[in-house]
Amino acid sequence: MTKIPGWPATPSTGPVLLRPPRLRDARAWSEIRLRNEKWLERWEPTSTHSWDERNSVAAWPALHSALRSSARKGLMLPFMIVYGGRLVGQLNVSNIVQGALRSCTVGYWVDSAMAGRSITPTALALAIDHCFGPAGLHRVEVDIRPENAASLRVVQKLGLRQEGFYERFLDIDGGWRDHVAFAVTVEELAGRSMVSRLPALPPDPAWR
Ligand SMILES: CC(C)(COP(=O)(O)OP(=O)(O)OC[C@H]1O[C@@H](n2cnc3c(N)ncnc32)[C@H](O)[C@@H]1OP(=O)(O)O)[C@@H](O)C(=O)NCCC(=O)NCCS
Repeated sequence: MTKIPGWPATPSTGPVLLRPPRLRDARAWSEIRLRNEKWLERWEPTSTHSWDERNSVAAWPALHSALRSSARKGLMLPFMIVYGGRLVGQLNVSNIVQGALRSCTVGYWVDSAMAGRSITPTALALAIDHCFGPAGLHRVEVDIRPENAASLRVVQKLGLRQEGFYERFLDIDGGWRDHVAFAVTVEELAGRSMVSRLPALPPDPAWR
């Protein structure tokens, strides 16, 4: 079997850990997703299936297997975001292209109950360091709807460069939505880690 650079991996800093999805994530993943329909649906790809259908416990095995299969082909690095030992969200490094481009796109979400603790900026910083390190990529892109203030803050906290504006770029929540493109290439870090750019994290959660 071909070895995929940088996969599998479990990068972490303080209470935030990224790890590959597991089959046994079904219950915790589904509980968060069903509870967060209003929080998440408006930022996610359009689907012909209902929210409940595609986020039920029964939906996880097929999704888990699709994520693992894409990872084995080197097309993506699908990470679960864990905070203080608990699953709180997902971060997918997708659209991995090798050759002269060596680029990828990152998408993410976190449980609304855990919002505002800089978990996602930390997860994104870990992912970027991983992409530029073990995964051997040169460029990371994050595309955000202009109305998504919380996500714009995430890339702002890490100092990602605004690179473009894509009109009618992705089919999100029932329509083709404009996106602002942010990117970073390895040179911009000048040998430092993205994690070192993070503001101080809140203390470890009490349930640890
Ligand atoms: C975007 C998202 C991943 C940010 O995650 P996070 O871990 O909360 O990130 P941060 O802690 O850095 O918070 C970012 C901003 O969200 C806002 N925010 C914080 N808590 C919030 C809450 N409870 N409700 C709404 N917004 C909140 C604040 O403006 C915060 O900026 P600040 O830290 O300067 O105050 C999260 O809001 C989310 O999952 N949203 C829905 C899915 C989504 O938009 N995904 C990204 C698509 S591009």
